[in-house]
Amino acid sequence: MCGITAYYGDRETCEILLDSMKRLEYRGYDSAGIAVLSKPKISVRKDTGKLDEIEGKLNHGNSKSRAGIGHTRWATHGNVSEKNAHPHTSCDGRFALVHNGIIENWEKLKEGLGEHEFQSETDSEVAAHYIEERAKNKGTEKAIRDFMREAAGSYAIALLDSEEDRLFAVKSGSPMAIGMGEKEIFLASDVYAFSPYTDKVTFMKDGEYAVVEDCDIVVKNTRGEEVGKRVETIRWEQDDSGKGAFDHYMQKEITEIPRSLEKLQNSLETDQRDTLRRFTEKLKDCGKVIFTAAGTSYHASLLGVYFLQKAGVEAQALIASEFENYERVDENTLLVPISQSGETKDVLEAMDYSKQEGAEIASITNVPHSTVERKSDLNLRIRAGQEVCVAATKTFTNQLYVLMKLAESINGTKVENSLMEKIKEAIERNEGQIKKLAEEMKDEKDVYIIGKGETYPVAREIALKLKEISYIHAEGMMGGELKHGTLALVEDGTPVISLIPGKGSDIISNVKEAESRGAKIIEVSPDYGDFYVPENSNGDFAFFSSVLGFLLTYWTARKKGLPVDKPRNLAKSVTVQ
Ligand code: F6R
Repeated sequence: MCGITAYYGDRETCEILLDSMKRLEYRGYDSAGIAVLSKPKISVRKDTGKLDEIEGKLNHGNSKSRAGIGHTRWATHGNVSEKNAHPHTSCDGRFALVHNGIIENWEKLKEGLGEHEFQSETDSEVAAHYIEERAKNKGTEKAIRDFMREAAGSYAIALLDSEEDRLFAVKSGSPMAIGMGEKEIFLASDVYAFSPYTDKVTFMKDGEYAVVEDCDIVVKNTRGEEVGKRVETIRWEQDDSGKGAFDHYMQKEITEIPRSLEKLQNSLETDQRDTLRRFTEKLKDCGKVIFTAAGTSYHASLLGVYFLQKAGVEAQALIASEFENYERVDENTLLVPISQSGETKDVLEAMDYSKQEGAEIASITNVPHSTVERKSDLNLRIRAGQEVCVAATKTFTNQLYVLMKLAESINGTKVENSLMEKIKEAIERNEGQIKKLAEEMKDEKDVYIIGKGETYPVAREIALKLKEISYIHAEGMMGGELKHGTLALVEDGTPVISLIPGKGSDIISNVKEAESRGAKIIEVSPDYGDFYVPENSNGDFAFFSSVLGFLLTYWTARKKGLPVDKPRNLAKSVTVQ
């Protein structure tokens, strides 16, 4: 699961590649590497670690090379090590490649190759040796076509051929965008990787490969026939203006929540107004609505179910990785994938499956021009801007907002107009209390978070955040489920964060059950506990409790001295199954 990029042109190749790789680091940051065309062999530099720690080592300096490939890795096959980092090369050094995806039959392909010395434990390396073997007699293009016929799984590959001074791209299942500049070509897993250099873009389809030679690109199918491509001009929407006065992106992005919501609100009333209307019509007219998503976006989709059911629309949510095992879709289904990145592999697979079964697809994404967006019949953008921290924060609250707006358009409920102001106030007024609690939380091993109705998904979301960013074991659950197992784990002083919308809430009896077993109850509520929580109505407590949970996670991780924006073992977008 990785980010790949390539460049052919007259600029300083390594500088371009490194810049693009930084934009792709959301796809993985276990290791990184660069290969450039140089005579007589390709030159490769790679290492483990995050790009800002190793970029000096990867940069080949003022090389005169006109072509190069770059990679940021999230380990799947083979541990995190320099030898498993991409690019991988053929035995003779003629070819180097970077790969995103998983070549499922790599062992079989390897067996068929005969005497080849492998340097890594990765599935990717087999492609370099396979192409080397076939290219000897047939030439590189035919070797690539053979590979496309024989390889199973998903791949996007960028390949350098030093003998022919050519760059190739191959795609099946994983994304590959092509950027076209003035006498220069860019390739990457997403368009933002080359956004500073060109806005002319085309997307490769499965079963296509591209040949780049002398800054010209030709895309072909598996029969070697040229394929006409539509070149689009992209309007860039994502901007990373840096951390500014903040210490971490997570802190900045939580603080941006009210402004992100305002931008979304504005967009839903102007440029996306018609899309919102059409989306609402689809929700009302279909037989059933099925949300699918992963991680944080899945928690948003659970709230989507809650809001839509209240609005009288039958809906359910299913984790994308289990979609086919648990779901039956048909032509009466409206599939609603929710994905910040729009690149999550499991979500894309659930979409492909649903499409085959005849379902319509209306998606909710953040990153414009993503694969999810392009595969959908209709798409709403949550307009949260670029989210750099691995933890999804402002994109979660924008997802909730769009879902509330959809429910509002169906049943006429009004979303609180003062919501953004109240969130801002909650962020400002709770800072001291959050820091105090984080000081205690940093030494905890286990935390439980309970919610009910609209806050059950939030409880799960806070638990996800505490695990991924603060490295604390946390479970988020329905209050009523505490007594089915979990209470046995509650000892004197075990923290139970309780999300209580107000006096008389049903969840209070569950809080009491935990308290009477010695739990340390941390109340998030307008009526109880030490936090300032604004009075709430129509689902806005979900926003306040999420924001407080995000802040608590942030300050706990910070007090533990953890790498807040890039936690260990994770990636922002999961582009493999
Ligand atoms: C959590 C987080 C991940 C993502 C998940 C889905 O903070 O960021 O759990 O929510 O990988 O990603 P998207 O929404 O891009 O499909």
